[in-house]
Amino acid sequence: MPAISASAPGKAILFGEHAVVYQRPAIAVPVHQVRAKAVVMARPGAPSGEVWIDAPGIGLNTRLDELPEQHPFRTLIQLLKQAMGLPHLPALHLHITSTIPLAAGLGSGAAVSVAMLRSLSAFLGHPLADQQVCELSYEAEKYYHGTPSGIDNTVITYSQPILFTRGQPYQILPVGGQFTLIIADSGIQSSTAEMVQGVRQRYEQAVETYEARFDAMAALVEKARHAIQKAQLELLGQLMNTNHQLLQQIGVSTPQLDELVRVAGQAGALGAKLSGAGGGGNIIALAPQERVDSIQAALRQAGSSRTLVSHIHPTVANR
Ligand code: PMV
Repeated sequence: MPAISASAPGKAILFGEHAVVYQRPAIAVPVHQVRAKAVVMARPGAPSGEVWIDAPGIGLNTRLDELPEQHPFRTLIQLLKQAMGLPHLPALHLHITSTIPLAAGLGSGAAVSVAMLRSLSAFLGHPLADQQVCELSYEAEKYYHGTPSGIDNTVITYSQPILFTRGQPYQILPVGGQFTLIIADSGIQSSTAEMVQGVRQRYEQAVETYEARFDAMAALVEKARHAIQKAQLELLGQLMNTNHQLLQQIGVSTPQLDELVRVAGQAGALGAKLSGAGGGGNIIALAPQERVDSIQAALRQAGSSRTLVSHIHPTVANR
């Protein structure tokens, strides 16, 4: 049997992270420049049911049943078996690679889950529908995030710009004109679960204040959605700056992230903000086409460990 592979993109949250955990809407886009890939191969001669996983990027090379029971790879394969009604799997080898930085707010966990589910289900002869991929990868997200909103697995499964509200069907976000994001890594890893928990603790100490901040973030999402639809890039940039200030107020920014946001603005970005859980990870900057190189250079000069350029393309119907 030939090897079967599947890949999935990274993602960036444009507006509304953290507030999305509290039922406010958020906007996210896929980032195709970084991807996770899973390749499944038969293992002729190996005992039936023996699944071998190797993921060199995280130093994993082991039999599946040697992983801790709660490990997301094990959880995911268990869920897949249940969903497909399979008591056990044929002997197979699963090779996982990813160019998405870990613990950096770019959705590496969800992308690996989506790639695994698609390659394994295709290998087993019944490719899962997107909705099932999304639901099952959400379960694995609980391991990575604790109490995930579901935005990562949704934007990565559907691989389109989306408007997402927890517990509601996602909406594809119409994009009126191309815009360019520079995604700059602070080089500092951070745990989404810990960041979300920190916000929860501060929220509980000051519910009204935090509710008002989340409402303000929701209002930005509403404005941003129109700005994206009408390709009003200056307005979009201003909304990003305001979202960053609100993220500072809920305590998830850091001096490094603030500095990268400041430097991006100084180098000509229309706006910038941290993206994802904060505490480290990436910032995103909205870049006029002619400033892309100089903004990237300024961000690297200011200590960013890696910059990516991602073009968000207009929706086909609007072209
Ligand atoms: O995976 P990250 O770092 O992009 O964080 C996810 C966004 C949060 O809103 C902070 C958490 C969530 O589950 O939505």
